[in-house]
Amino acid sequence: MAKNLPVLASDAMQLRLVPATAAHARKVLHAMEEVSAGNLQFFTDDLTLERETTYLQRMEESPTDFLFLIEANVHEDWESPFVGTIGIHEHDQYHRTARFGVLVFRPESRGNGFGSEAIRLLLRHAFETLGVNKVYGKVFEENILGRTFYARLGFLQEGRLRQEYLLDGIFHDMVYISMTRGDWDQLRARH
Ligand SMILES: CC(C)(COP(=O)(O)OP(=O)(O)OC[C@H]1O[C@@H](n2cnc3c(N)ncnc32)[C@H](O)[C@@H]1OP(=O)(O)O)[C@@H](O)C(=O)NCCC(=O)NCCS
Repeated sequence: MAKNLPVLASDAMQLRLVPATAAHARKVLHAMEEVSAGNLQFFTDDLTLERETTYLQRMEESPTDFLFLIEANVHEDWESPFVGTIGIHEHDQYHRTARFGVLVFRPESRGNGFGSEAIRLLLRHAFETLGVNKVYGKVFEENILGRTFYARLGFLQEGRLRQEYLLDGIFHDMVYISMTRGDWDQLRARH
């Protein structure tokens, strides 16, 4: 069933979150292929158009997933604005929890504030529109940059999940991070 997701536009910078659909499969695949030579730790399967189309279709139809493309006005003319993806997943309507995931594809696009602003927009949608009470995520224990990044955004580290993620034959520990609606309201009150 269609969810009628809105475009989430930033007031602070030229960035918006556009609901992902199966029609974006080629674009997403292309972006991922461009960086797959790097360390895209999260994509363990081979990338194919068919697989990507099926995935995006599933995201579009799933009542518990909300996936967006991150578009930023990098070249001042909204030319090639697609810089990454961000989403809310596993939305549990009873416990009011949801997991989030974010990726800015190209290393040269990172460090421009896109990730931070995209997360703020996503959190606002999760807490204030979807009524989520707690948003959580998992970061590789060894990803110090990532952990610092989320801490700066106001996420708290709840604990370490031992041998949680199998990658290239090695079980990695993950750090479980979260933000509650109360945390969010406090952060908003301060800014
Ligand atoms: C983490 C990520 C989403 C942040 O998005 P971004 O657009 O680079 O973030 P911002 O520009 O808003 O903030 C930059 C901060 O992110 C942190 N960061 C984390 N990973 C980074 C990376 N690979 N490159 C640059 N900055 C990174 C740094 O602390 C940086 O702080 P600084 O500005 O003081 O140098 C993005 O860098 C990314 O997709 N990285 C690869 C995947 C990853 O490491 N994910 C985190 C674990 S889930």
